Amino acid sequence: MNMKKITILYYNTNNKSRDTVLNAAIPIDINVTFTHSFQELYETIVSLDEIDIVFIDYEGEEELLKIISAIHKYDEDLVIYVLSSILDDDEQIKIYSSGATEYLNIPINCHVLQARLKNMAGLRDSRRLLYSKTNVLQEEVDKAVSIIKERELESLLLLGRASEYKDRDTGSHILRVGRYSALIMEKLGGSQEDQELMLYSAPLHDVGKIGIPDSILNKESKLTDEEYVIMKTHTIKGYEILSGTKSKYLDAGAIIALSHHERYDGTGYPKGLKASEIPLYGRIVAIADVFDALMSERVYKNSWTLEQTMDYIKTQAGIHFDPKLTNIFLDNIDEALNIIKTLPPKL
Ligand SMILES: [Fe+2]
Ligand SMILES: [Fe+2]
Repeated sequence: MNMKKITILYYNTNNKSRDTVLNAAIPIDINVTFTHSFQELYETIVSLDEIDIVFIDYEGEEELLKIISAIHKYDEDLVIYVLSSILDDDEQIKIYSSGATEYLNIPINCHVLQARLKNMAGLRDSRRLLYSKTNVLQEEVDKAVSIIKERELESLLLLGRASEYKDRDTGSHILRVGRYSALIMEKLGGSQEDQELMLYSAPLHDVGKIGIPDSILNKESKLTDEEYVIMKTHTIKGYEILSGTKSKYLDAGAIIALSHHERYDGTGYPKGLKASEIPLYGRIVAIADVFDALMSERVYKNSWTLEQTMDYIKTQAGIHFDPKLTNIFLDNIDEALNIIKTLPPKL
């Protein structure tokens, strides 16, 4: 691997060691840039990425400490050499603990300085190599994580489709329910992560239908009371299928499966929860699910017009649905209609 040339930024208010530094650095191919004011030193470090070492050739201890800590605040990894002739042991300790890498007593022998610079250049090269390897590794880890996430999302979709497969009329219903639910979450002010959670978890709301006999699921006439009791268990079955994993999507899906038929007034199932007792995810999916069912053609019904659907949803605010979420959804009905356009129900 080709290493970049090392650059020293040399800060001095006297010129005592200037020639020694130049004579040590140039033969081993190290650049030296000079600066004489702290302002310029700091600006050069901030504006140039390629400074590797700062030489501070300075006598006042107080000032030195300030300079070192100002530099370190900006870049912790920068190597700082302090050249001085007057610091006693205690002062040197302070200089080291404030972040200096090396203290060099001047006058310093040019050959000694050169040997130290060579060592430092080697160290800097290995640090860069390590840094670039770390970056490459990080990129690979990120790639692997995104592939795993993609696979997880694919599996979620398949699980949702398995329930849809049994429920033969629904077409891309589950995908639209995911999109409307994410839309409501977005307009409610939910984070990107919350919106994504709704997008991928809401399609799992009816996974429990896998456990309902086809004779009930696809019955064209009205269900008997006993059949309706069995049908309602799809909420609990869905929860049982989806809960207890380490996936946040399945966790949210379990909550949604269990609570998407609860009603705001407490007359829903399976628990008869009321208002805010119903998990937010369930309250959101309830609106999305009913809206999509009304707008789609099913075995037992034709699709409703948008006006009929909106009127019905409005009348159900505070009865079936959370009134605040209902308003949010109806206020953004244009975006919901765009979702239908991009994912039309199967004819
Ligand atoms: Fe359901
Ligand atoms: Fe549904």
